[in-house]
Amino acid sequence: MQKIIIANLKMNLLTLAERERYIESFKKELKNKNLANSQIVLCPPAVHVEYFSKSLKAKNVSIGAQNIFSEERGSYTGEISAPMVKSVGAKYVVIGHSERKKYFFENNQTANAKIKIALKNGLVPVFCVGETKEERLSGSAADVIMKQIVEGLADVSSAKIQSVVIVYEPVWAVGSDETPTGNEILEAKILLRKLFSHACGPEVANKIKILYGGSVKAKTVGQVCLEPGMDGVLVGRESLIPSEFLKIAETLDS
Ligand code: 13P
Repeated sequence: MQKIIIANLKMNLLTLAERERYIESFKKELKNKNLANSQIVLCPPAVHVEYFSKSLKAKNVSIGAQNIFSEERGSYTGEISAPMVKSVGAKYVVIGHSERKKYFFENNQTANAKIKIALKNGLVPVFCVGETKEERLSGSAADVIMKQIVEGLADVSSAKIQSVVIVYEPVWAVGSDETPTGNEILEAKILLRKLFSHACGPEVANKIKILYGGSVKAKTVGQVCLEPGMDGVLVGRESLIPSEFLKIAETLDS
């Protein structure tokens, strides 16, 4: 089955020169790989979305945004909306990322509003869920994940839920070099499938893509993606090095 490999480039590529170097290196590395079974999604900072989508035309490469606001237009100084990123070439948008929660006071309700506006505008939401270290240690990880899903996807129809990409991204594994075991990831995947099966029936539940995110590297991707049978990965730091990022894709493609 086709895997989805998403690059979250975060607040990097600071200048036009850096952007160009990244794109040139990405294209060169991509040419040397035969990725027949991968959907690659690059999520650059919003100011680069248009240029990325014009510069990268490979059929297995799509572009995504890292964020949108929950309204389409109006007096919201500094915000960027779903129709805007869509019109400059984004097909995906990351929603509910733990860094949005940590630094920008986002929560399950804001994620819900953003998911709805993304779907309304034909964007695929990449919805991140996962527990903190404290929540894991106190034994409440499953409850936290369930709440994130129930509240984040409230009032989203089964038909629409099918097109949401879910990422199990434990907060403690983001930017930390700590990686869950394959079994821990499998447990989260089973929990998510059960939840979706209960809410939308097994047929819809089995169609939903469930990815893993958090300190993914070429040398750990077997453990965090192949072993627990995930549908792909969301990659932070390693996506800034195209050769390493595409090595991850290559490992999953075979
Ligand atoms: P790292 O891969 O750098 O841990 O980041 C993960 C992440 O936040 C992806 O969204």
